[in-house]
Amino acid sequence: MKAQIAFLPGDGIGPEVLNEARRVLETVATSGRHSFRVVEAAVGGAAIEKFGEPLPAQTRDVCLQSKAVILGAVGSPAFDHLPPDKRPERGLLDLRTLLGNYANLRSVAVPDSLADCSPLRREMVRGVDLLIVRELLGGIYFGSPRGRENGSAYNTEIYTATEIARVARVAFTLARQRRKRVTSVDKANVLESSALWRETCTKIAAEFADVEFHNMYVDNCAMQLLLKPQQFDVVLTNNMFGDILSDEAATLAGTLGVLPSASVGGDVGLYEPVHGSAPDIAGQGIANPIGAILSIAMMLDLSLGLHRHATTIERAVARALNHGYRTADMKTRNPRLRSRERIISTREMGEAICDFIRMPDAT
Ligand code: IPM
Ligand code: MN
Repeated sequence: MKAQIAFLPGDGIGPEVLNEARRVLETVATSGRHSFRVVEAAVGGAAIEKFGEPLPAQTRDVCLQSKAVILGAVGSPAFDHLPPDKRPERGLLDLRTLLGNYANLRSVAVPDSLADCSPLRREMVRGVDLLIVRELLGGIYFGSPRGRENGSAYNTEIYTATEIARVARVAFTLARQRRKRVTSVDKANVLESSALWRETCTKIAAEFADVEFHNMYVDNCAMQLLLKPQQFDVVLTNNMFGDILSDEAATLAGTLGVLPSASVGGDVGLYEPVHGSAPDIAGQGIANPIGAILSIAMMLDLSLGLHRHATTIERAVARALNHGYRTADMKTRNPRLRSRERIISTREMGEAICDFIRMPDAT
């Protein structure tokens, strides 16, 4: 039976980067003699335009019937006037809830070939290899009550110990496959929900005695990520802090464009690049498809158990970068390296990566 994969292009640069991701999936499938059934569905602003809501019933059905979902991006200035609950972003939040994916994995690794794309000096980012495990279904994003009243507005940051424990277990389990170090990030000196976060994570840490465990305040973490990012292996944190810290950590790799993510915990995995819909560059064919392409690799690895194919894609991306292929967002800060780099389009980057997938791995 062919595994069904749902493709949700969404808004802005979403469709452009998913086109390349789809091509990579087809290429790896052909070379590995596999086939997938790809079904497209609407989400975000694109779905509001077509169906009047950001996560229509047919999209929910397609996703629930699939092995995994790949999403491009959601968000569009056309809907900026709408309240949060009616905007394109709501489609993504509802989809995460529908699929029950409570753990969001965002890894930031800086290969040597990218060390000069970062705004930080090469020595500061060399060797960075960290994984943010962000709680995805709770906290202030979803807490109630929320609303407006008499000229004020409010949201609620709420976590149960169960919600914290289940995502913490994911972080510790993944740490065992890495450098065995978990840093839990909170604001326990001020917030009650963070005090429970710290208490619960410290308890779970005791179940994983072979994993080194630290607690860190979020303001300090924001600073440490820029001062000494190599100290981090797995960073475990709540929904809102994880959203913010993952964008910050992305600057270590020079661009948000190369980062993939996986949301797991439910039966159907959700995979998406960390970047947003980037309306300012949409339709120009210059967006970086690598975040979407590496999300395909994460999907093959985590939802389909096709580890070899995942590695093939990761290697092809690394080879494209080593050959100096760059999209416009990845320009090096090092003038001596500028002659080596070739700025290419979204499509050309997708094609280059497909070529490396087809080519035996000599270089
Ligand atoms: C992300 C995005 C989303 C989030 C938005 C689009 C709802 O910023 O995936 O990081 O805040 O989770
Ligand atoms: Mn974000």
